[in-house]
Amino acid sequence: MRLCFVATIGLIAAHSLCAADLSGKWVLTPAGAANNDIAYYITQTGDLFTGYVSQGQNNSAITDGKVDGDKVAFAVVRGGNKIVYTGRITALATLEIAAPAAAGRGGGGRGRGPAFGFGNHPAANAAVEPPQPVTQSLIRVSAAVPPPMPVPPAKETLNPPAVPVKYNTLAKTPPMGWNSWNKFQARVNDQVVRDVADAMVKNGMRDAGYVYVNIDDTWEGTRDAQGNIRSNEKFPDMKALADYVHGKGLKLGIYSSPGPKTCAGYEGSYQHEAQDAKTWAAWGIDYLKYDWCSATQVYTPDSQPGAYAKMGQALLDAGLASGRAIVYSLCQYGQVDVGTWGANSGGNLWRTTGDISDNWASMSNIGFNQQIGREKFAAVGHWNDPDMLEIGNGGMNDTEYRTHMSLWSLLAAPLLAGNDLRSVAPDILDILTNKEVIAVDQDPLGKQGVQASKDGDAEVWARTLADGSIAVGLFNRGATQIPVTAKWSDLHITGSWSARDLWAHADRGAGTDAFWANVPSHGVVLLKLAK
Ligand code: GLA
Repeated sequence: MRLCFVATIGLIAAHSLCAADLSGKWVLTPAGAANNDIAYYITQTGDLFTGYVSQGQNNSAITDGKVDGDKVAFAVVRGGNKIVYTGRITALATLEIAAPAAAGRGGGGRGRGPAFGFGNHPAANAAVEPPQPVTQSLIRVSAAVPPPMPVPPAKETLNPPAVPVKYNTLAKTPPMGWNSWNKFQARVNDQVVRDVADAMVKNGMRDAGYVYVNIDDTWEGTRDAQGNIRSNEKFPDMKALADYVHGKGLKLGIYSSPGPKTCAGYEGSYQHEAQDAKTWAAWGIDYLKYDWCSATQVYTPDSQPGAYAKMGQALLDAGLASGRAIVYSLCQYGQVDVGTWGANSGGNLWRTTGDISDNWASMSNIGFNQQIGREKFAAVGHWNDPDMLEIGNGGMNDTEYRTHMSLWSLLAAPLLAGNDLRSVAPDILDILTNKEVIAVDQDPLGKQGVQASKDGDAEVWARTLADGSIAVGLFNRGATQIPVTAKWSDLHITGSWSARDLWAHADRGAGTDAFWANVPSHGVVLLKLAK
């Protein structure tokens, strides 16, 4: 192995003497501190390198590594997929890497105010901005040749039960409530949950339909001598908390994993499934989010239907015994075709994607790109979950948050607010509690909306409602205002239909062939068309 530099001398400077040797352990620099348990172990021979990326107990192989001057390319093999990274060796022994962009980004350009009308508007010439890769910086913390990738222990394969888990009769419409993760992450505690519950009563969220108050990861403590799960010091008495929340006319949700550890590294339910379900029922828990996380270490991917059914049955049994049925939320990021088995495993809802972030690229990529084709799996009691709401968390403007709320409602998605409801601005509260939009989400027919047409940045999404009307979203994903047209032919309707604007709370008359509106950048005009 050649070492071409010492840590204080930049790689680029060293490169002029000989090809850089990247061998060693690299970690994300403080810019990526949220992921600082991710380490890259690299072994280089000549210009080629291999290695692995390590996060907790998970290791993913690095293949096809090549150094060419200050340029670097390699692939990381995750779940059978190869993700290709390109990178650059910079000064001060850092390496900037980027995976291919998943989503388009747009600017925040403002339109000149919406205009609308029936009939066809001349086609818009929307510009599509190129996707931007996300760059991460790595810094080397050791130049020693790393040990080989640890061999993982043998994994168990769990088969799903021959008979599907019975439907628990809950979540007849997509669940509505609040979840702690997006805003509070590990900062959630008993007081926060009580204060949020109080606020939801005072600010009208409860009365608008948001009834589940869900504690996400980081509540878990250790198990007692009998293996019973206990909450940690942030939650001194879960039963008392559940009583308090119930006293407000709300319900309490909790979180766990089929694996030994949760995603944040707390105690999971592995080999304690029935016991944990009984404990939660005894506390008065009404909702469980069950997050795959470390289950990858103990189960083969094929085990997901079986592992989720195991908890599904346990919740059903515990709920029947205690008289308190528990909504069951599957969180495994849409892997292994969850739509085809989620309901049979007892799930009322299942995540369809990775985690949402509070920005336009993340929200629009999940909402517009990653839900297409999933509508066939949604039905009363069983919902696709494109992840929790980011409305009010500050990373998007109100126009974008209205798009978020409209799209999630058309998708028959769970509406779980993820902001700090103790102090919510009036404009955000208006978005979250718009009754006409919520009625679309909660429509009793339970039919998920679909993309009816796409023309550049202009997308029309439509959802058939129980009363025979159609909710229609005219969306603009681009950086400048454009007209968006919903053609009756794309909606598979004919004749005269009247339009009501669900954000403006205004009737817009009737038309016989199409409706168009000028839609601001990243905005929406949400209509209800009725015969
Ligand atoms: C995963 C889930 C998130 C959240 C965190 C908690 O990333 O997808 O929604 O629950 O775990 O650790």
